[in-house]
Amino acid sequence: MRDNWKNRLAWLTALKEPVSAALKTPREVAAFEIRQYFEQKGLQVQIAVDAAMGESYAIEKTENGFCVRGGETGVLYGAYALILAHQRGDETPKGMQTPYYPLRMLNSWDNMDGFVERGYAGRSIWFEGGKFCYEEDRIRQLGRMLGSVGINVLCINNVNVHQPAQHLIDDMLPEVGRIADLLRPFGVRLMLSIDFSQPISQGVGTADPADPAVAAWWADQAKDIYAAVPDLAGFLVKADSEHRPGPNAYGRTHAQGANMLARALKPFGGVLVWRAFVYNCLQDWRDQRTDRPCAAYDLYHPMDGQFDENVILQVKYGPFDFQVREPVSPLFYGMPKTRLALELQLAQEYTGHQIDLFAMPPLWRDVIDDMGKENAKAIAAVSNLGRDDNWTGHPFACLNLYAFGVFAWNPDSKAEGVIRAWVKNTYALDRQDESNLVALLLHSRDAYEKYTGSLGLDWMVNPHDHYGPNPYGYEFDLWGTYNRADRNAVGVDRTEKGTGYVSQYPEKWQKLYGDPKKCPDQLLLFFHRLPYDFVMRDGRTLIQRLYDDHFEGAQEAEEMQAALRTLLLPEPDGQEAAERMEKQVRNAREWRDVVNTFFHRFSGADDAKGRKIYD
Ligand code: GCU
Repeated sequence: MRDNWKNRLAWLTALKEPVSAALKTPREVAAFEIRQYFEQKGLQVQIAVDAAMGESYAIEKTENGFCVRGGETGVLYGAYALILAHQRGDETPKGMQTPYYPLRMLNSWDNMDGFVERGYAGRSIWFEGGKFCYEEDRIRQLGRMLGSVGINVLCINNVNVHQPAQHLIDDMLPEVGRIADLLRPFGVRLMLSIDFSQPISQGVGTADPADPAVAAWWADQAKDIYAAVPDLAGFLVKADSEHRPGPNAYGRTHAQGANMLARALKPFGGVLVWRAFVYNCLQDWRDQRTDRPCAAYDLYHPMDGQFDENVILQVKYGPFDFQVREPVSPLFYGMPKTRLALELQLAQEYTGHQIDLFAMPPLWRDVIDDMGKENAKAIAAVSNLGRDDNWTGHPFACLNLYAFGVFAWNPDSKAEGVIRAWVKNTYALDRQDESNLVALLLHSRDAYEKYTGSLGLDWMVNPHDHYGPNPYGYEFDLWGTYNRADRNAVGVDRTEKGTGYVSQYPEKWQKLYGDPKKCPDQLLLFFHRLPYDFVMRDGRTLIQRLYDDHFEGAQEAEEMQAALRTLLLPEPDGQEAAERMEKQVRNAREWRDVVNTFFHRFSGADDAKGRKIYD
């Protein structure tokens, strides 16, 4: 049935009436949502708009209900906060609430042919066959989901801009404008990914950022764009990265490239988001000196202070690429004069394809604690959405979208609290089931990490697809992703004696990461190359710890399956979760056996507990 998504309200189960096309402003949506939720509850809720409050809101108790005071979007955020808290039976937030990061962006990696790069929830909700193709009702429901957790910018097209996506900023502008209109009532502004080389195909003949004709072309284009979408948030750019065009081709720096584009956007208040995911993707595995994690800092640190004020440098949380465990990118400590955005990935590319459970709040808590929330000025996440009825493939993967909004608003959020809130708003479970589901989700990342890449052993996945084990899959490849396991040792020495990566960190981190006796276990083999009989802090040898983690991780997946079976979930969520869990358990066993055998063959070490390791 085409319309099945209409019954899948994600965490907005309290709001069954769809938002109609007649509602044009956030305050109208706020009033509508409040009416539909509180009407039956005998509580009176007023809305008081004070434009100066912008995105902020305050919820005040009145004699027979509440008053939501806030700016135009503030009242919308306040209305949703009140409704969701009331449904959960929680206290409403006290005092003035203001989002910590002013830009809270969702980046879709949707191509115009309908394929979603790293998408695990079906095809694009925006595009098909090179054209826009969407259901307005569905986009309004999406707007509501984003607005309900305060996500205020949405980039609809992939950072890898394939044709015909270039036309989004010319011929297709009227259609882009219609989408902006659909999302505006929810406080969501559009952003577009652009192709740095676009002036070439438009008769300018070059994309050199220092050429005045190029700057003039972008400035002109910006006029047309803002005529169609007056509140466009700006452009998102992937340049000189994984074969995308960029300023390097002309001998220009990334600051020159970014500033040229930023100046075109500036008269209209737009921002230029430039991705820092730049490294040599044509490496030779024989070369032990080039170390991919060093790349972004080496490139951008010297440019600190050179970017215009409306440029945001968007940095993935770790120096590699959304692995299960990475240290925080050293750029967060080394670019004090540049506005940085933290980039997270909701799409479970390396974290289980929305088949295996991976609730992200515990990961983000670690990342933000290490990064220092003030070292970023904005936050972005790669979307996990698609055309599947339940939006995210796995019904529980919606948690990650919800939680992203909550963390973007308040980066001090606690993982368990956010997970519990999502569970309560999504499912009406009894207390025991609720606690069991919260525990399952809270623990899911640990289990996944143990059966896949424990101790900081990244990249042992099947190449290209990135699901399932393949310890040698990326070993002789050109992407700079090596574990260098041999019969004596495993891991990469990134200390001063090795690749020197550790020296990109401030002293406190250098001391922690640089010493294998102090380095957190989960990052040990990211920073150090160690023999299999290295004795860890808890007295176990390295090889024994690798075996233990993989046995435990697979067992924990089985325990999660047993726990899931006891839950009384509504259908079809129960069935969908059970089917995926079946696959997860198979995947976890495969990881356990492949990784254990891989290391057993190298090390020759037996498992101290005598468990089965295949020859
Ligand atoms: C990863 C991912 C790509 C994506 C890239 C990016 O490498 O596998 O699909 O394009 O990240 O973030 O740009």
